[in-house]
Amino acid sequence: MLPTPYVKCDYTKVYEPAEDSFLLLDCLEKEQDFLKQRFSCRLTIVCEIGSGSGIVTTFLMQNGIIPQENSIHLAVDINPWALEATLDTAKLNSCQNSFLDVIQMDLNSSLRNNQVDVLIFNPPYVPAECVPDVPGSREEADQWLDLALLGGKDGMAITDKLLQKLEQILSPDGIAYILFCARNNPEKVIQKFRKAYGWNVKLVETRKAGWEVLSVYSFTR
Ligand SMILES: C[S@@+](CC[C@H](N)C(=O)[O-])C[C@H]1O[C@@H](n2cnc3c(N)ncnc32)[C@H](O)[C@@H]1O
Repeated sequence: MLPTPYVKCDYTKVYEPAEDSFLLLDCLEKEQDFLKQRFSCRLTIVCEIGSGSGIVTTFLMQNGIIPQENSIHLAVDINPWALEATLDTAKLNSCQNSFLDVIQMDLNSSLRNNQVDVLIFNPPYVPAECVPDVPGSREEADQWLDLALLGGKDGMAITDKLLQKLEQILSPDGIAYILFCARNNPEKVIQKFRKAYGWNVKLVETRKAGWEVLSVYSFTR
């Protein structure tokens, strides 16, 4: 079993790793042989959208899930505090030899098209009346934290946006791992996605977490 990164952040500003984060780590551990095989021969761009504390990106780097000499890691978050936390977590776990850059942006808005080989997203998936507005200043800590959780109608507002952009984000043999909760109606969403894009979508892992059921699906062309 691969080690889990040590994380020490201010959880009034940044999402605290929880069952969803740990399910993603388990999925990536399960997928490591596949990922190593698929991306061993060339430079691989790994992008985590919504890196929060940085636990997932650090896990990938710390355990060489994509061999270090072959990979560039990009951690994206809309919350500026999350980017600082991600860099701190990487440092705390001695990942200085990995290439990591952090970018504050909305989803993939300033990424070049078709460059990402491995995309990971644990989105704000909790159903809510709406997705909160982006705070006007860095200091509004609680409001940044709301953006980590609240996913609008069916908890799908942000995930839907990303799904519509997958074709544009991923490299030709790229793969995305995206987390859903049962209230997102993942089976229905995936059926619709398959029909619209003709991609392969597979359930990697599912787990009951309290009263919530969480699942991670992989998406490839
Ligand atoms: C559920 S948390 C996941 C954090 C971390 N990846 C983990 O698994 O513990 C969702 C993260 O997505 C970020 N986020 C929300 N909306 C975003 C957007 N439109 N673009 C980029 N990041 C976003 C939040 O700030 C938060 O850090």
